[in-house]
Amino acid sequence: MSSEKRAELFSGYQGEEGDLIPILQRVQEKQGYISEEAVRRISRFLKISENQIYGVASFYSQFRFTEPGRNSIKVCLGTACHVRGGQILIDAVERELDISPGETTACGRFDLQRVACLGCCALAPVVQINDDIYSRMTVIRLKEILQNYE
Ligand code: FES
Repeated sequence: MSSEKRAELFSGYQGEEGDLIPILQRVQEKQGYISEEAVRRISRFLKISENQIYGVASFYSQFRFTEPGRNSIKVCLGTACHVRGGQILIDAVERELDISPGETTACGRFDLQRVACLGCCALAPVVQINDDIYSRMTVIRLKEILQNYE
């Protein structure tokens, strides 16, 4: 991270503890995740321990700690999707790609997230890959669709 980027990260903040969440949001927005390096720098800037930062940030599902993949898979586990097999879909993706929710494949091709509701419950179960929404998903279709993403 360049010194310019670092300054950008903290500009407008005084280094108070209450700045933690807004700074984490800024890092997440700019880098797509909260890197170890960012946590170290925030720790120094706010004078709080790295453990405290991880402790607070892990309460919020919006923050991720691994670099996103080239393609992001979101499997909906909201009520409508859950009762129509959302969990089976996420289990299938975990097995197929050998990752858990919140992780990225070693090759960087995919990351996997569990989400609460994608806002199209009538089409459950729903999976989103990048900006594409797939409705009434089945395990077989999902495995085929994954092949389309490099
Ligand atoms: S519960 Fe899955 S889209 Fe609403």
